[in-house]
Amino acid sequence: MKLRWLGHSAFELISNNGLGILVDPFIQANPACPLKISDVNPDVICITHGHADHFGDVVEIARNNPNLVVITNYEISIYLQRKGVHAIGLNYGAFVRIDDVEIRMLEAKHSSTFDFEIDVKYAGNPGSFLFTFDDGLKVFHAGDTGLFSDMKFVIGEIYKPDIALLPIGNIFTMDPQEAAIASRWINPKFVIPMHYNSFPSIAQDPEEFKKSAHNCKTLIPKVLETLEF
Ligand code: NI
Ligand code: MN
Repeated sequence: MKLRWLGHSAFELISNNGLGILVDPFIQANPACPLKISDVNPDVICITHGHADHFGDVVEIARNNPNLVVITNYEISIYLQRKGVHAIGLNYGAFVRIDDVEIRMLEAKHSSTFDFEIDVKYAGNPGSFLFTFDDGLKVFHAGDTGLFSDMKFVIGEIYKPDIALLPIGNIFTMDPQEAAIASRWINPKFVIPMHYNSFPSIAQDPEEFKKSAHNCKTLIPKVLETLEF
């Protein structure tokens, strides 16, 4: 599996079969992402919640890519279906299998609205995703979240991800110290911080997180750097 950080919470995962998964496709308005939407060509997009910095450019990407499948929560899937996008709505604990990957929606403690709409519409429950690849590798993308005890009892003890992508920015999510507790509770082999430094309000030093998340190896990729697992 190849993993590429696109800045903020946007990640591209490429399975061994070549299935391209884009999580939280915040491209055009993402100050940390140098790509244009024409530079990405995913097979699957996963959206953790409705906020603009996660929902991102999904509608535009789907317009250029008629075979795209979007995996998200039920409410966002309805919203997207009404815009002609092929979307599958999940709720907590459920999964779909696409090619050589199982994609499961799990919990996040956050909010979820279409904050880019004038009347700030409800967008279901915020989620996280567990990707289980056919070679056994498991990647957990936490979405936007605060710390919660089921990171230990459900995500850590039941699902046991190998790689955890955790927000550290504070203001909207966990700060580095809380994220380090999440890292200890989830206890993956590798942890990758996200949702920091894309805006001035979430400026953080990922090395501070690394110092506290001493249970496992912290990887701090540069934007667009590809890591192989
Ligand atoms: Ni959010
Ligand atoms: Mn966010």
